[in-house]
Amino acid sequence: TRVAVCSGRQFSMDCIGSENMVVGDILSLQSKIAAIRAAGPSKLQVIADFDATLTKYNINGQRGQTSHALLQQGNPEYDLKRQKLYDNYHPLEICPAIPVEEKTKLMEEWWEKTHALLVEGGLTFNDIRKSVANARMAFRDGVIELFQILEKKNVPLLIFSAGLADIIEEVLRQKIQRPFKNIEIVSNRMVFDNQGNLSSFKGKTIHVLNKNEHALDMVAPLHDEMGVVDEPVIDYVAMKRRTNVLLLGDHIGDLGMSDGLSYETRISVGFLNDKINESLESYSKAFDVVLLNDAPMSGVVDLLYQLI
Ligand code: TMP
Repeated sequence: TRVAVCSGRQFSMDCIGSENMVVGDILSLQSKIAAIRAAGPSKLQVIADFDATLTKYNINGQRGQTSHALLQQGNPEYDLKRQKLYDNYHPLEICPAIPVEEKTKLMEEWWEKTHALLVEGGLTFNDIRKSVANARMAFRDGVIELFQILEKKNVPLLIFSAGLADIIEEVLRQKIQRPFKNIEIVSNRMVFDNQGNLSSFKGKTIHVLNKNEHALDMVAPLHDEMGVVDEPVIDYVAMKRRTNVLLLGDHIGDLGMSDGLSYETRISVGFLNDKINESLESYSKAFDVVLLNDAPMSGVVDLLYQLI
């Protein structure tokens, strides 16, 4: 593909308009690149969605699994119950006719029911480990390079997901050889009892329609009145001072991930994985850069080299 041509250390304007990369407003992108570069890496943060953004959309011709979809509870009755919820609520999630307030209630209902089934059906940490080992899930090529550059330049990466934090962490453990100190996962987090059984979820539930609240305010509920429950890896007070953002997502709704942060300059990159003809126009208006056809992360890596 032509993106491969663009995967040298140049995010040149020749890449733009290539078959896998579309930029709606080149002048605006150029001026944002210049502004972020001038401010330096200490002003930059990266906010990324997880499923189908950091991970591949297709694997060997099949849809890659999300953090929810890969989970096998070791209890087929409950796996089926969760699948039935998916069959019922997913069409509502993607139905454009449902007003947002009504849809928000439906999504809250779905997430509550799914989380309750995971507790009731007896999920153990070992089930997570096995499910991830058997999952049809892979990072896009270039994701590890992205993590390495960000770590080297001390730029924090917030992985923001309406999925399951414990699964995302296990994916990182199994698929990446070492931990990265600059990565914070903001997602739904489980509490396990002494026997390793899931007993509850902590903090505020993150679903698809409240990923637009401030990401860092969602980390805060992990602190309870008894003191610190989970120390975030990243100092999120310092994070708020990083007012330039590189945002990565695969849905237009993902743009809301930076809401609540009064950013100065934001460059948004959208992975358009499916229904390209129908969605290209809206994606190229919404995102600064659109990457098509389940593109590798190298386009983003090249862009990052222009920024820091
Ligand atoms: P995100 O990965 O974009 O943050 O969104 C999470 C996705 O998880 C969302 O598209 C709906 C999906 N989901 C499931 O597949 N199963 C579930 O049980 C729930 C609650 C959500």
